[in-house]
Amino acid sequence: MKIVKNISELRALLDSVRAEGKTIGLVPTMGALHEGHASLVRRSVAENDVTVVSIFLNPTQFNDKRDLERYPRTLESDCNLLRDCGATVAFAPSVDEVYPEPDTRQFSYPPTDAVMEGAFRPGHFNGVCQIVSKLFAWVEPTRAYFGEKDFQQIAVIRRMVEDLGFPLEIVPCPVVREESGLALSSRNNLLSDTERRAAAHIYHVLQWSIPFAKDHSVKQTHQFVVDCINAHPALEVEYYAIVDGKTLADINTWAETDFPVGCITVYCGQKPIRLIDHIRY
Ligand code: PAF
Repeated sequence: MKIVKNISELRALLDSVRAEGKTIGLVPTMGALHEGHASLVRRSVAENDVTVVSIFLNPTQFNDKRDLERYPRTLESDCNLLRDCGATVAFAPSVDEVYPEPDTRQFSYPPTDAVMEGAFRPGHFNGVCQIVSKLFAWVEPTRAYFGEKDFQQIAVIRRMVEDLGFPLEIVPCPVVREESGLALSSRNNLLSDTERRAAAHIYHVLQWSIPFAKDHSVKQTHQFVVDCINAHPALEVEYYAIVDGKTLADINTWAETDFPVGCITVYCGQKPIRLIDHIRY
């Protein structure tokens, strides 16, 4: 596996790959890689001739400086994991390489990027679109792989791809969970053992809400989830939204969509750590 730090080297390498008619899979990451990322990389390796994994902790998508500062940085072990998964290139540029000038571009795809994470983390999806559009332009991938754990992110990136006309396929990949049910996330490393056990409660409640929803309204199901999670002393719901899985608009009745999804953000523990998850009804 080649570790590439600058854009010109990346482009030269990929130009020759494309000249040979080979397909390129891109897995964008911010590092601190875990089994969830590994599943994306393995899938890309199975479906493409060449797999590029970007490792870049993108400052423009963090609206909370503390969150950026304490985000785990583990480049060496990340590269070991990528080698084991069969990745071809790890692209790990510096902030100056990616943003030699401040990126002033504004992306706006309402309601997709305005609700839920968009409302609670202003500017977050603008930063995601800034970096992902740059990566798409530099790598020109055949396919790009994203974890469904960030359910809303995939919906926003799909809108951006349509808007800017990138000729590529977005491949959503299923959430990978710990045995306890907790969705794998780089932020889980920041939880103590006790907090980790508490965090597993989030998915348990989401699962309990599936049979509950069968004979209760959207509003009652919403309340059930919020109350059950908030009843745990280490957990506090920031928002729970039951939405149409395509438009991400709130629904009031189950009959409104054939793709109802519940999206949740919960603060866990003392620090506290912000965790997201979702469930399909
Ligand atoms: O999902 C992530 O890790 C990030 O939002 C992404 C897509 C790598 C952009 O920085």
